[in-house]
Amino acid sequence: MVAQPDGTPVQPALWNSFANMASLAGRAVTIVRGEGTTVFDAAGRPYLDALASLWYCNVGHGRAELADAAAAQMRQLAAYQTFEPFSNLPAEVLARRVADLAPVPEAKVFFTPGGGSDAVDTAAKLARAYWRTVGQPAKQVIISRSHAYHGMNAYGTALGGIPANAEPFGQLIPEVEHVPWDDAGALDKLIEQLSPERVAAFFCEPVIGAGGVYPPPAGYLALARQICRQRDVLFVADEVITGFGRTGAWLASERFALDPDVITTAKGLTSGYAPLGAVIVGPRVAEPFWRAGSAEVFRHGYTYSAHPTACAVGLANLDLIEREQLVQRVAELEPVLADRLRPLADHPLVGEVRAGTGLLAGVEIAEDARAQDPGLAARLVADIRERGVITRLLRGVALQVSPPFTITQAEIGRIAETFAAALDAAQV
Ligand SMILES: Cc1ncc(COP(=O)(O)O)c(C=O)c1O
Repeated sequence: MVAQPDGTPVQPALWNSFANMASLAGRAVTIVRGEGTTVFDAAGRPYLDALASLWYCNVGHGRAELADAAAAQMRQLAAYQTFEPFSNLPAEVLARRVADLAPVPEAKVFFTPGGGSDAVDTAAKLARAYWRTVGQPAKQVIISRSHAYHGMNAYGTALGGIPANAEPFGQLIPEVEHVPWDDAGALDKLIEQLSPERVAAFFCEPVIGAGGVYPPPAGYLALARQICRQRDVLFVADEVITGFGRTGAWLASERFALDPDVITTAKGLTSGYAPLGAVIVGPRVAEPFWRAGSAEVFRHGYTYSAHPTACAVGLANLDLIEREQLVQRVAELEPVLADRLRPLADHPLVGEVRAGTGLLAGVEIAEDARAQDPGLAARLVADIRERGVITRLLRGVALQVSPPFTITQAEIGRIAETFAAALDAAQV
C-alpha cells in the first residue's frame, strides 16, 4: 500500500479485480518488481511466482529486451490507429509471424488491444458475421462448456461456464448455450435439439484453465471437433492461456490436432509485457471478407487494435522464446511438474491433482474438507504466500500452478514442498 513521505498511509482508491474491497482495502499486496520467476512486494519480500502472474509471464519477469523493444518502438511511432487503410510495420510483421506459427493454413490475424476478452468478443462476433455473409443468418447460437472461462467482456461473461461470474449481470448475450465440459455426446445432442441450422460456433479451451485446470479427457477434443465438422459448426479454440507454448507446443491446437476454424490468443503473445490479443482466423472464415471483389466488411475494431508498441513487444517476446527454446523447455518440464505435484493427491485435504499438459496444473482441495471448512482454501492460498510462493484459487476449488517457462526443476520442487507444508499445517 502506498504511503505519504511521513509514513501516513494514503486512502486506497484502486478497485481490484475479483476482490472484496471491504476486506482488501488497505491490505493489498503491492508488487513493485520482478526478476525471473520471482516478484517482490513493497517491503522487498520475494515470492516465487507459481502463476506467471495470470498465466502470461512466460519468459519470466524483468526481461530488459522487451522493455527495450517497447522503448524503441515508442520513440519511432508509439501508436497509430489501424482502422480502414492504416497499418504499421510491427503489426504487419507480427501478423505474418503468428500466422506462420499457427497450425492453420493461410491464417489471417486480427489483433485486439485488451487481451483475451477482446479476442473472444472478436471471435464470437466474427463467427456470427461469417454465417450472415454466407447466407445462413439463422446460425447465431454459440455453445460453450461448463467450467469454461472466456474472459469478462459481454461475450466472454455469457459464454463462461462458471455461474458465479455471470449471475450478477443478467442476460448479456442472447443465443448462448452450455454443455458439460467433458461430454462430447451432449454437444452433439444439443446441436441436434437446437438444429444445426441455428448453431454458429463451439468455443472450447483445449485445456480448461481458470475453471480449475482440466486437461481434456482422452478422445474428447477429437470427438468434439468431428461433431462440429459433421454439423457444420465453427470450432473456436480459446488458446488465451495455452497459446504460445504453455502446453509444450506453440499452440495447443497443434498438440491436439484440432484444426480449428478460429483461435483466440493473448497473454503469452507478449508474455504480458504489453496487452495484446490475436484472433487467428482460418481460410474458411476469412474467405468471404478477403475474397477478391468481396464487399464484406467486418465492422469491428478497437482504438488500440494492432497497437505498434504492443506488437513490437510481441515480436521481441517470440524472438526470445525461440532463441531460448522455451517451448521445448515446457515440454521437458511437463513430466517434472506432474511428478512433483502428484504426490500431493495422497494428502487428506487434496481431492485431485490435475497436471500433465505442459506447465499447467490444478491442485484441487478435497470437497469434504471444503464443505467442513469453507474458509480453508482461501487460507491455504494466504499461507502459501506467507511461505513465499504465489498461487491462487480457481473456481473456489483448486490451487493454480502455471509458472514462467524459465522455472527451474528446483523451483518446481519448491512449489510442491510449499503446498505440502501449508496443507500439513492446515490439517492440524
Ligand atoms: C481461456 C481464456 N479466454 C479468455 C480470457 C480473457 O483474457 P483477458 O483477461 O486477457 O481479457 C482468459 C483469461 O484468463 C482465458 O483464460
